[in-house]
Amino acid sequence: MAKSATKGKTPPAGQKTPAATPKTPAAKASNGAARGGAPASRVRRIAVLPGDGIGEEVVREGLKVLEAVAKVEGFSLEKKVYPYGADHYLATKESMPASALAEMGRMDAIYMGAIGDPRVETGFLERAIIWGVRQTFDLYVNLRPIRLYHEDLCPLKGKKPEDVDMVVVRENTEDAYAGLGGIHRKGTPHEVAVAEMIYTRDGVERVIRYAYALCRARGKKKRLTLVDKANAIRAQDIWTRTFAEVGKEFPDVEQDHAYIDAACMWMVKNPEWFDVVVTPNLFGDILTDIGAMIQGGLGIAASGNIHPGKISMFEPIHGSAPKYRGQNSANPIAAIEAGKMMLEHVGEAKAARRIENAVREVIQSGRIKTLKAGAYKCDEVGDMVRDAALAAR
Ligand code: IPM
Ligand code: MN
Repeated sequence: MAKSATKGKTPPAGQKTPAATPKTPAAKASNGAARGGAPASRVRRIAVLPGDGIGEEVVREGLKVLEAVAKVEGFSLEKKVYPYGADHYLATKESMPASALAEMGRMDAIYMGAIGDPRVETGFLERAIIWGVRQTFDLYVNLRPIRLYHEDLCPLKGKKPEDVDMVVVRENTEDAYAGLGGIHRKGTPHEVAVAEMIYTRDGVERVIRYAYALCRARGKKKRLTLVDKANAIRAQDIWTRTFAEVGKEFPDVEQDHAYIDAACMWMVKNPEWFDVVVTPNLFGDILTDIGAMIQGGLGIAASGNIHPGKISMFEPIHGSAPKYRGQNSANPIAAIEAGKMMLEHVGEAKAARRIENAVREVIQSGRIKTLKAGAYKCDEVGDMVRDAALAAR
């Protein structure tokens, strides 16, 4: 790592730093506007998709916190809850109707719990719902902040909060996820299984540009690491070239590179090296589960599926964990953090900051000592974060 050329570090005079996630036009439109005779307060319209397993309980706690901060910050959430997921599918054979997607498209954001259930064919609901939303709304950025709030939560020896503070920008619409390929002569001795890794110039360029702009706006190390496997998968040369070309627009951002295998190693050995990472879809998926662990576990890792300026979807990184369903034992912090990212996206930065400070506070004060499922009750953690968010400013 750190082998690639470092471009000039001095920003040209007067260069503007673009906001990492611009406010949505929808959010602006509803700002302070009276709707159909309603009181003149801000209304944020949220599609809620609790989904499967623990999704329902963590989303309930997330909404508890969001509602509380909305009230003190002077806006309200207009929610529509959608039933899609395994129970609904098994009862109706309906996975994700186009009419629901069209309706969601008229809202400000989508808040999702988790999708996946062993009673349904592997990947079917994940493709229909998670991938369906990502594709329908062209949510090309999967933004995954990795931040350690207390050293006791980190499984790495000697790593402190200041050592684990990075953001992974995962491309979210292409790669092996695109669905090109299939299984031919299935079940025969001559079976052929193909999954194509697709990278378009547009698709690669826009996510790389987003990552550079984010890196600049964060203003920390100003180091953007491209993670790929261009030495073995030569098609990924499109990432190498695009990264260098777009980088010319950001001379103040240092260009860094690591192959995915080495990046996994560095993430565990020297996480303090990383600032912002940009990477194709599949590697981003894998790398961010390591990221989740070094920030304390899947109980805290959140993500935003973002199309800047448009409707976007926010969800915890964890899965549906069916064995914990309905036990009030899941940790809702990842869902609460996803809610925080959603508030940032719809233009409620102050409310988002309240939540961020509250989560940091309950962890740093030692009130929450582990993020593992079962350690605390899901609703107790929700109450704790809500109360801290109301006390903070
Ligand atoms: C994630 C998940 C999904 C993905 C699965 C459930 C399809 O692992 O959001 O990280 O691979 O994108
Ligand atoms: Mn994943």
